[in-house]
Amino acid sequence: MAKVLAFDVYGTLIDTHGVVSELEQRLGALGKAELAPEFSRRWRDKQLEYSFRRGLMGAYEPFVRCTEEALVFTDRALRAGLSDTDRDHLMQIYAELPAFPEAEGALASLGEAGVTCVAFSNGTAAAVEGLLEQAGIRGYFADVVSVDEVKRFKPDPAVYAHLRHRLESEPGDTWLISSNAFDVIGARHAGLHAAWVRRSPEAPFDPWGIEPDLTVTDLDALAERLG
Ligand code: 2OP
Repeated sequence: MAKVLAFDVYGTLIDTHGVVSELEQRLGALGKAELAPEFSRRWRDKQLEYSFRRGLMGAYEPFVRCTEEALVFTDRALRAGLSDTDRDHLMQIYAELPAFPEAEGALASLGEAGVTCVAFSNGTAAAVEGLLEQAGIRGYFADVVSVDEVKRFKPDPAVYAHLRHRLESEPGDTWLISSNAFDVIGARHAGLHAAWVRRSPEAPFDPWGIEPDLTVTDLDALAERLG
């Protein structure tokens, strides 16, 4: 079977930086615009931490709940004082984030090369479908595979087994493409190939001795290597 590329969504296909601009506006109105970058980092870290904790506890809830509760936590931790309206707008932004600039071109060349691409995310299928549609790149994916179908989170081995089951693909033909090292390590541990999209050159990788099969700086470089 030809190789199948399963793309992580937030941070790999979709640029979450759009949240920072909205945070700058809303925190700016409170005289705290300078908090925006730290707020965005801590929000993302707490969102993922909640998914890991829920996974370990066996207390699965849709990823959007991890995102919402991480937003409330970060607001409290930084004593930012966001209103309910602010938080509603920020959650809406999460549903409308842009794709990275090179994503569409890279996906188009992969399609022309006959490579099958799917989206593979902690987000629910409905959330990811909406996000990719709004970002204008839904048409490049043969399918959307969500961990919500098995009620587990990345990097639980069950989600990578589910991906292969849904794709009816062999481990040797299945590539996980992600900017998140935990996702790359989870996929390699589950026997899949994995490419790490290392957008910032100084981003470190975890010293676990489980390495990506391929490291690229962006999706264009990925398309050159795997197209
Ligand atoms: C995802 O989209 C968590 O960013 C990760 O699954």
